Amino acid sequence: MESPIKVFSNWVLSGKDEGMEINHSKSVENMIEYSTKGIDKYSFIDAGCGNGWVIRKVSGDPKCSSATGVDGSIHMIEKAKKLDSKNEYFCSDLLNWRPKEKVDIVHSMEVFYYFKKPEILIKHIYDNWLNNEGRLIMGIDHYTENKPSHSWKEETSISVMQLFSKNTWLNFYKSAGFNNIEYWYYGNKGDWNGTLIMTGVK
Ligand SMILES: C[S@@+](CC[C@H](N)C(=O)[O-])C[C@H]1O[C@@H](n2cnc3c(N)ncnc32)[C@H](O)[C@@H]1O
Repeated sequence: MESPIKVFSNWVLSGKDEGMEINHSKSVENMIEYSTKGIDKYSFIDAGCGNGWVIRKVSGDPKCSSATGVDGSIHMIEKAKKLDSKNEYFCSDLLNWRPKEKVDIVHSMEVFYYFKKPEILIKHIYDNWLNNEGRLIMGIDHYTENKPSHSWKEETSISVMQLFSKNTWLNFYKSAGFNNIEYWYYGNKGDWNGTLIMTGVK
């Protein structure tokens, strides 16, 4: 068993990180469309940004005033910086990092279940990353209601992959203090339940 950061660092060395853009892009498009709808200007952080593909995409939106990527893997961050000299990228455990200035949108795709206690991260983002009325939006494919994802921990040998139900994630958002919490499933087909997208406002 290896730590999530170690496993994803190895993915960069083998080029496998690029598959995540292909696999996650439809859900991420849905998340970005939802979180940026109806606002004139926003600052944006991608928590667990991988190689930075979401930051490169979002920063092209004229409404985006700043886009920042944070990831624990040095190889991911080095690749992000190599591909993009315009935006800022930081290599850090998300639990130990906070932005110089709070932002309007914190986005995260396929990251939060790699934390032993995601509720601590959600509260940290609420307290230290988000402006008042700022929005957290996360997407995850590994959760109890999505049965095909149950085998992933064994298949990938990643040491921390928490399998929680939609209600457990809802409680994490509620306990952190979020308002207007909403969730939906995106891309469900057959026994694939889709990406669980959950969002709330500070
Ligand atoms: C499945 S990948 C998703 C990457 C990106 N969000 C995407 O959709 O392409 C998970 C990412 O979370 C990062 N990660 C895992 N645990 C982390 C931690 N404790 N702190 C910071 N980043 C972490 C990994 O390095 C990896 O880049």
